[in-house]
Amino acid sequence: MGKPMKLIASIDNQWGIGKNGKLLVNIPEDMQFFRQETYGNVVVMGRKTYESLPYSVSLDGRVNIVLSENKAFTLRDAIVCHSVDEVLAKVEEFPDKDVYVIGGESIYTQFLPYCNEAHLTRVDYEYDADVHFPDLDIDNNWEITAESDEKTYFDIIYKFVKYERK
Ligand SMILES: NC(=O)c1ccc[n+]([C@@H]2O[C@H](COP(=O)([O-])OP(=O)(O)OC[C@H]3O[C@@H](n4cnc5c(N)ncnc54)[C@H](OP(=O)(O)O)[C@@H]3O)[C@@H](O)[C@H]2O)c1
Repeated sequence: MGKPMKLIASIDNQWGIGKNGKLLVNIPEDMQFFRQETYGNVVVMGRKTYESLPYSVSLDGRVNIVLSENKAFTLRDAIVCHSVDEVLAKVEEFPDKDVYVIGGESIYTQFLPYCNEAHLTRVDYEYDADVHFPDLDIDNNWEITAESDEKTYFDIIYKFVKYERK
């Protein structure tokens, strides 16, 4: 197995991450953090998350890998892979870059075994979500290793929490 990957997500109190193909909440500092972490690196996402990006264009300054089962699906600005194994092989071509798994639910779940770090923005609210991140608090393989102070954006309370595989 190659270098371990990293997960990055913003989650609510119930590990919710999205609803109707959209994020639950937009917090500018969270967006900045996401950009800072992933910039210059490789990002791996599902086809639905790719289509949820603003204007459906890939993330600038990053190698974008998009998963789809559809063999006819191609993108001008991203690498399309058709299986987890194909992604694992593809990322080997970028040994100098970190690899961030950026969602959504199906991708987080399938790539969790290949990751050793998770950068989670935990939003202190329970939204009505239809997709979730795997609950790392009930997973004995993971522990919290760093946590920011509580932050606020208008009435939204959130913090940055880092989990690492034990
Ligand atoms: N809060 C956050 O940090 C965060 C981050 C990212 C996304 N989200 C949210 O999550 C939601 C999208 O998540 P989702 O789970 O519905 O969709 P997704 O994971 O983004 O995409 C699912 C699609 O990925 C492809 N796929 C998945 N596994 C595959 C495999 N093993 N091989 C080949 N292709 C595979 C399939 O595409 P085809 O159908 O084309 O075959 C599948 O339909 C949205 O609401 C989005 O806003 C939240």
